[in-house]
Amino acid sequence: MSVSINNLFEEVKSHYDVVSFISQFVKLKKVGRNYVGLCPFHSEKTPSFTVSPEKQIFKCFGCGASGDVITFYMKLKGIDFKSALIELAERAGIKVEFSQSSVQKKNREILELNFRVAKIYQNFLFNHVQGERARAHLKERGLSEETWQTFFLGYAPPEGRVLAGLLRASKVDMDLALETGLLKKEEDGSFTDLFRDRIIFPIFNERGECIGFGGRALKSDVEPKYLNSPESKVFKKSEVLYGLFHSKDYIRKSRQVYLVEGYFDYLALWERGVRNVVATCGTALTEAHVKKILNFSDDVIVLFDGDKAGRKATVRAIGLFLKENKLPQVVQLPEGEDPDSYVRKISSEPPEEPYEVLIKNTISPLVFCYQYFKEEYRGNLGRVFQDMVDLCRGISDPLLERAICRELAFFFDISESDVRRVLRKETQRTTQDVQGFQDFQTLGFRGGPDEDFLKAICQFLIQNPNYIPKLEAETEIKDYLESLEEGPYFDFLKKLLYFKPTEETQLFAIPDPQFQEILGDLFFSPPFENKEETFEQIKRCISIMKKRRALKKLAEIIRHVEKCGNREEIEKLLFKLRGTLSF
Ligand code: CTP
Ligand code: MN
Repeated sequence: MSVSINNLFEEVKSHYDVVSFISQFVKLKKVGRNYVGLCPFHSEKTPSFTVSPEKQIFKCFGCGASGDVITFYMKLKGIDFKSALIELAERAGIKVEFSQSSVQKKNREILELNFRVAKIYQNFLFNHVQGERARAHLKERGLSEETWQTFFLGYAPPEGRVLAGLLRASKVDMDLALETGLLKKEEDGSFTDLFRDRIIFPIFNERGECIGFGGRALKSDVEPKYLNSPESKVFKKSEVLYGLFHSKDYIRKSRQVYLVEGYFDYLALWERGVRNVVATCGTALTEAHVKKILNFSDDVIVLFDGDKAGRKATVRAIGLFLKENKLPQVVQLPEGEDPDSYVRKISSEPPEEPYEVLIKNTISPLVFCYQYFKEEYRGNLGRVFQDMVDLCRGISDPLLERAICRELAFFFDISESDVRRVLRKETQRTTQDVQGFQDFQTLGFRGGPDEDFLKAICQFLIQNPNYIPKLEAETEIKDYLESLEEGPYFDFLKKLLYFKPTEETQLFAIPDPQFQEILGDLFFSPPFENKEETFEQIKRCISIMKKRRALKKLAEIIRHVEKCGNREEIEKLLFKLRGTLSF
């Protein structure tokens, strides 16, 4: 039987029974009308993976994965729809008629030529005198010959026309060779090599096709240190993950994947037995990378360099995974180490296994971001909060959202619902302006606790320090403060009135750790829209709050006097009370 690719879908679907097919990969048990087992797409201890023979579909109630035979196979193998269809057809003995377009044919030729080139470079590494320095470098890096072999590592000699010459001699179509990006055509019509005196890393896609190359300069003064094949139809840096082809089975088996940023980082881990790894190839992580990784495992461990750039990239990566509703784990390396240098170091100091050491260095991703932003903003908690919320925006998984709100609430000592409110807010600033103002009104007029009211005043004053002298001159703020017990905002306000800063920089120069801590917190508060109006409100509120304090005090005295039963005394106090009430 031979089927054209267009009719393949129906053909493949009708050939397979979902239960018997999935049983080859997952141990299934019959429960009622369905079958259940442990989900192959996420880690679980109790089965929530359900297969329905009637509907011919599967669904996991744990991770939400669902679909038919083809989707199952796609997810399991981490391949696209078309490849899944073709492989399933092959398994079923259905012959597929390919009517390849000329573009597909060309791509195939490029991929094949790439592989040939990989073998040419490999030969230089293994067998040529010229490859000696490259061999020494790789050995020094602790990579075994077996690993060179597995990854087809190679060496491009320095002369500059070696590959071109070899390809021409073996009658390769030079126009095709140009399309690999490995040769350049000079003005005189001759061809030169892209890679010179570099260690060569062939890059394979998840099907094991050689789509491009990375090359590391052997001499330390050569720029750039790494050179990659140019972007092309077959080589898209924003999608490719180095090592995926070799690592995918390890990833699936361990249900976990380490993400690193360099060829050597990948290979160093591989060499020491950490094989569930992938690496980006000289570009920042993209959404496409993230989606591809999550096809294989949703337990991702980000393992980037232990320097500022590495930490920045880690925070970015966390954000990208969060957009896909996944929170990765993070391994924080000591300052100055990268995965390559670090595993080499720990491997030279056994007895601990690399896995164990890496796990020991795992840190909560949100703690990691918190520390990063805190360092970045020198403790300005308001900005830290804003950036963390921005990082977490767009999460649609309610459980994850809840976990994140809980953690953020803990960091910033605010309520979970407040975090959620900010997190869900699309146009943060404008709505917050209004919100802030209303909050203040509510605080003032409903007469919340004094400490809350003081906080509102502090918020206003740090945003508008020029109102500090006005506040002192036009209100009885000092009297009011006299009547209060001490508290953090009480102290804060007293310091403001004492130091009378007139601009932001002076605020941050006030020498008191507690003051600075609160200042950081308050900086997150939204600005009040109408300053003058707000100031008028504050004035009114101070007067009300002051009277409230006075009343409270009077009420206390009356209660006390009542006990002693001195009528005359009580009458005098009630008279005073009436006076206080008339505002
Ligand atoms: N990279 C690149 N171009 C550069 C520098 C780096 O494409 N000019 C990519 C490479 O894929 C490299 C990765 O970014 O593997 C990490 O770069 P870096 O940390 O600078 O290099 P290392 O991997 O530490 O390189 P080495 O250990 O060989 O010095
Ligand atoms: Mn390195």
